[in-house]
Amino acid sequence: MEPLRAVKGMNDVLPDELSRWQHVELAFARTMRLYGFREVRTPIVEPTSLFVRAIGEATDVVEKEMYSFVHHDEPLTLRPEGTAGAVRAFIEHKVPQAEPVTRWYYLGPMFRAERPQRGRYRQFWQAGAEVFGDAGPASDAEMVDLLLRFLREIGVPDAHVLVNSLGDAAARVRYKAALVDHLTPKLAGLSPSSQRRLEGNPLRILDSKDPHDIEAVSDAPSILEVLSPEDTAHFAAFRRHLDALGAPYEVAPRLVRGLDYYTRTLFEIKGATAKLGAGDTLVGGGRYDGMVGDLGGPSVPAIGFAAGVERLVIASELPASPRVIDAYVAPVGDASTDYALVLARDLRASGVATELDGRQASLKAQLRRASAVGARFALIAGEDEVARGVVQLKDLSAQSQETVARADVVATLRRKLEGTS
Ligand code: HAM
Repeated sequence: MEPLRAVKGMNDVLPDELSRWQHVELAFARTMRLYGFREVRTPIVEPTSLFVRAIGEATDVVEKEMYSFVHHDEPLTLRPEGTAGAVRAFIEHKVPQAEPVTRWYYLGPMFRAERPQRGRYRQFWQAGAEVFGDAGPASDAEMVDLLLRFLREIGVPDAHVLVNSLGDAAARVRYKAALVDHLTPKLAGLSPSSQRRLEGNPLRILDSKDPHDIEAVSDAPSILEVLSPEDTAHFAAFRRHLDALGAPYEVAPRLVRGLDYYTRTLFEIKGATAKLGAGDTLVGGGRYDGMVGDLGGPSVPAIGFAAGVERLVIASELPASPRVIDAYVAPVGDASTDYALVLARDLRASGVATELDGRQASLKAQLRRASAVGARFALIAGEDEVARGVVQLKDLSAQSQETVARADVVATLRRKLEGTS
């Protein structure tokens, strides 16, 4: 029989690698709490219509990347991102009626049927956040600053921030028209997918990786030229706040993103390009002041971001944590197994991380295993030790050994661990 394999683009994360994920996840939770965010958990499966309405029908995500299915006549989709579900929960639980500003963060798996490559998967994890109820550009700048702090903390040395503004719906209509005017004479030279997009979603052409498209848009007009005075002022204040915070950034007037809900501020943070290549966008985010209202809630402004956890782990220069266990209990001979079991349980009860060897293996094999799992001490109990009510306590780094009365083992070991840690 063929061995079973994980679904293409969906990866196992084994414990050695997971220690690096946990560094990232803990640093993320710590940062978010420092900035007043609270964790929210929403379902992985949502009604398909939520994503179609929130993300937009003419986007790659909705057109071809969603894992959708019908269950008991109900069209459902594995979430391709976290914002739509957060907004649905925000409205459903009447959160805006209870508080004027809401700061939520989340961490969890997302699903997109993309072509897998390094840093791009079909199941991937996002660490994301949303702020509801604060329309001011100060919250936009704080979000970028928070991200730079977080990336520094996890050892991403070369984070590069790109910022842009998409203005409001009217500005985008004006800009689409300007872009169509610019690209129509070049239509024949565009890639087939951009030719198709010119009608429905011309902004996406700015995001194309096709060299012909890149060439065609290189001298396209900038959206910043058609923003309303209010949106221009918002963008200017956002930049001023970033300067005040000492946050470096580059204005990227052709920056667009693959989701249709953005208004005003848009940003991306790239990093570790040498390791990630084309998939070096670590974080994407922006303002989406219309979505809460569009999905049936009150008119509440919002801004958020999401970072790809796999990409952060690749980019982060933190080392994996070595495997560590405090004590390894090695019973020698079947008669000492009960004695060893109780000893191991007592050690754990006092907070000593303990592994018990139940294999009935030779002492040599057990000690080899104790070193392999990173144990600092081995506690050896054979028939003789059981009869005398003692344990052999072996310090595996000092290679010294002493006999300790069973009644004193827990206290002695705790003292030694505190002394060495
Ligand atoms: P996004 O740009 O689609 O934005 O994704 C955010 C980040 O998720 C990307 O920058 C990347 O690091 C990671 N990512 C996306 N797709 C994949 C993939 N197939 N494999 C690995 N990593 C991936 C959003 O999802 C928005 N919801 C962000 C947001 C929140 N905007 C406002 N609030």
